[in-house]
Amino acid sequence: MTGATKEDIQYLKAAGRVVAGALKAMMERVQPGVTTAELDEVGSEFLKKAGAVSAPQAMYKFPGATCISISPVIAHGIPNQTVLKTGDLINIDVSAELDGYFADTGASLTVGQSTPEVESLLAATQFALQKAIQAAQVGQRLNNIGQTVQEEAARHGYNVIYDLTGHGIGRKLHEEPHEVFNFHNPQDRRILTEGTVLAIEPFLTTGKGHVVEKRDRWSLQTIDKTLAAQFEHTVVVTKDGPIILTL
Ligand code: CO
Ligand code: CO
Repeated sequence: MTGATKEDIQYLKAAGRVVAGALKAMMERVQPGVTTAELDEVGSEFLKKAGAVSAPQAMYKFPGATCISISPVIAHGIPNQTVLKTGDLINIDVSAELDGYFADTGASLTVGQSTPEVESLLAATQFALQKAIQAAQVGQRLNNIGQTVQEEAARHGYNVIYDLTGHGIGRKLHEEPHEVFNFHNPQDRRILTEGTVLAIEPFLTTGKGHVVEKRDRWSLQTIDKTLAAQFEHTVVVTKDGPIILTL
C-alpha cells in the first residue's frame, strides 16, 4: 500500500509481529526427522492463537498455512509428509492477515549440520536484504532496492533470481507497488513515497537465476537445480527511514 497512516502502521506492526513469531516458532522446530507438514502445523497453530489467518490459504487456496520449500525448490513449497534430513537447505515463508492488514516474512536455513558453501549463500542473502531495506528511502527510486540486491549478490559471487520479486503489501498480500525487482531495471522509474509498504525479498542463487514450476503447480524450483536462498521482511518507508514491521 502507499500512504500508510500512523494507525495503519500500528495494525501492520501487529500483523508483522504475528508472522515473525510464527516463523521463529517454526525455525526452532526445524531438525532432522520432522516433516514439513509438522512444521506447517506449528505455524498454523501460532497464527490461529494470535487470531490471524494464513494469507496464501485465504487468498490463493494454497494447500498449507505456510510455504516450506526444500532446495532446489525455493518458493511456494507445499507442506507434506517429506521428512527433513541433515544438510537440507530449506525456506520457510509466512504471510498472514490480522484485523484486515497483511504482513509477509521468510527465511532460509539449513537442517542440522551446514556446509561453508551454504552458510556463505545464507549470509550473503541476509546481508542483501539488510542493504536493500536501507535503500528504501522516500524520494528515491523504488528500483534502488533491486539494484542493491543485484550488486550485493554479484559482490559475493551469486546471481539473483530474476523471476521472483518483492511486492507492495498492506490491505492485501500482493498490491501496489507490484514487482519490487531484485535486479537493476532501468525501465523502472517509480519513486518511493512516504507510507509505502513493501515486502522486500531478495532471492540469491549459485545458478543462472531462473525458476520453473513443478508438476504440483505450486513449487518453484531453480531451473538448473542449483542452491537458492531467500530472506524477507515487510517494511514501511517513512521520512525518517525504513521501518521493519516483521520483527
Ligand atoms: Co513471503
Ligand atoms: Co512476499
